Amino acid sequence: MCGIVGYTGPREAGPVLLDGLRRLEYRGYDSAGIALVTESGELFVEKRAGKVAVLTEALGDKPPRAGIGLGHTRWATHGRPSDLNAHPHTDCTGRITVVHNGIVENFRELRDELVAGGHTLKSETDTEVVAHLVEDAYKGDLADAVRAALGRLEGAYALVVMHRDEPERLVGARLNAPLIVGVGEGESFLASDAAAIVAYTKRVVFLDDGDVADLTPGMFTITDRAGTVVDRPIDIIPWSAEAAEKGGYAHFMLKEIHEQPDALTAAMTGRLRGESVCLEELDPIRERLAGIDRVEMIACGTAYYASLVGAALFQEWLGIPARSTVASEFRYSPPPIDSRTLVVAVSQSGETADTIAAARLAGDRGAVVVAVTNTVGSAITRESHASVFLQAGPEVAVAATKTFVTQVATLVMLAADVAHQFKRLSAEKERELVAALRRLPKQAERTIELAGPIEEIAARYADAAGFMYIGRSFGYPAALEGALKIKEISYLHAEGYAAGELKHGPISLLDADVPLVAVATRSAVYDKLISNLMEGKARDARVLAVATEGDTQIERLATDVCWVPDTLEPLSTILAVIPLQLFAYYVAVKRGRDVDQPRNLAKSVTVE
Ligand code: F6R
Repeated sequence: MCGIVGYTGPREAGPVLLDGLRRLEYRGYDSAGIALVTESGELFVEKRAGKVAVLTEALGDKPPRAGIGLGHTRWATHGRPSDLNAHPHTDCTGRITVVHNGIVENFRELRDELVAGGHTLKSETDTEVVAHLVEDAYKGDLADAVRAALGRLEGAYALVVMHRDEPERLVGARLNAPLIVGVGEGESFLASDAAAIVAYTKRVVFLDDGDVADLTPGMFTITDRAGTVVDRPIDIIPWSAEAAEKGGYAHFMLKEIHEQPDALTAAMTGRLRGESVCLEELDPIRERLAGIDRVEMIACGTAYYASLVGAALFQEWLGIPARSTVASEFRYSPPPIDSRTLVVAVSQSGETADTIAAARLAGDRGAVVVAVTNTVGSAITRESHASVFLQAGPEVAVAATKTFVTQVATLVMLAADVAHQFKRLSAEKERELVAALRRLPKQAERTIELAGPIEEIAARYADAAGFMYIGRSFGYPAALEGALKIKEISYLHAEGYAAGELKHGPISLLDADVPLVAVATRSAVYDKLISNLMEGKARDARVLAVATEGDTQIERLATDVCWVPDTLEPLSTILAVIPLQLFAYYVAVKRGRDVDQPRNLAKSVTVE
């Protein structure tokens, strides 16, 4: 949530910052701004409500020449989106500028205190207090002043601060919000994530909570808040700048849907050995895993739907209780957790505040915590005893696609690996599973081919008043995820329901304007699902079914069918969701929506 970028070095800072903001825009896009210390030593600030394109237009594509600056793209928390509330914020002297991601929870007290002390605050934001606190603390050394100001803040922050009178220096700080240092040749960067700077350098330092980074061109020092130097390793980003570009597709979402076969291959790389599944990341915690007697999965949104597959398999294969809980609720009624509980925290970004808080609570109570995430160095990995990465490459569209299918695949492998360790998965079952996993990338490719007619089908449904998605067993998470995709990007109401629940209420919503989308792939619950589909048909609802190739019955029953190849039931969620992603995409395009950056959303949700 909110994107931050900072630069100091020999390049022109303005274009570097604008380029970084465009790449970070998926994090928030209700306003954007940059600040530069110009060659003539002036502080230049431009900020606008709206997307980065509005800011770029305001700048006339010609920001003043400068070798240092910072930029921000915002997802509003305190203060509505407006030019005034956009970041950067400045102090009373107009020398200090700040950009911030997070929430300063005690900003009202700080604001009152600052106003009583003679400061003038111009915006409604929590962030502006930081600029004024740094102003009060400044005695000629920006890093010292930032460290002093941090001592006053409660809440979460990733901050970058710049002072007009120290025109080569940027100071960054993080607490519960992501911030990385980019280490270039004679130049330095700060950014919310690597996407903003990978075109310039792949060498990065993931800051830890409490770190303060002091940057000049090509040099950096990291200290704790007391000023003691701390050592942090330099990591190398494993993907290229092109990986975060649209590559000829109309939208990132469409590109990422088409990347799913490769993403699945990447997720399984190094994890399928002969006829078994082996996640080396679990080796350091094998002993602890051997003693678990229950599994709790925690996640939000799409990741939660993926986790339902994981929970079902842990329970089926290990024969111990396993369930999944929405992370934001987990804390209010935490289940009994002790050292025999395995907690799996699933988060694409690894930054979701609710999931991090739930993982922390589980860790504090002694659970063994495993993170399943796409983001190396993310906060969730620090709350966990082991991390299993999706290896899916960067996902830029706000609506998750390739991270959903790789989450499901990774959770299947995780459950299989632990079941293998427990000696609860027979060699034959594991062999069958591994063979099916190996077939999956090609089958995902075929699913995309089979979905050729989906654009036309979507056009016929784009005027619906709403949708009802149903599925049973492993089709249920696919139905939930399909409904979420439609909601997010087309702004049409959609319900994802367990098919058996349809008759307990929501069936009253069905009519000629509210179609039924049924995940009806081959499975043990197929016949029951067909009965539910018929219930919808009998209420005049058009029926769009996702079905397994070769199913001759469904063609007679459904209005339209999307075909997927046959696979094992636990993997069917992965294939079934692909036509639903494409369906949502084309409905949204037909309705003229902003597919990659839907209103009110942000890619990573770093507030609770
Ligand atoms: C949906 C979507 C969200 C996220 C949710 C959790 O397309 O992207 O529902 O899945 O905000 O995010 P992560 O996985 O980053 O914890």
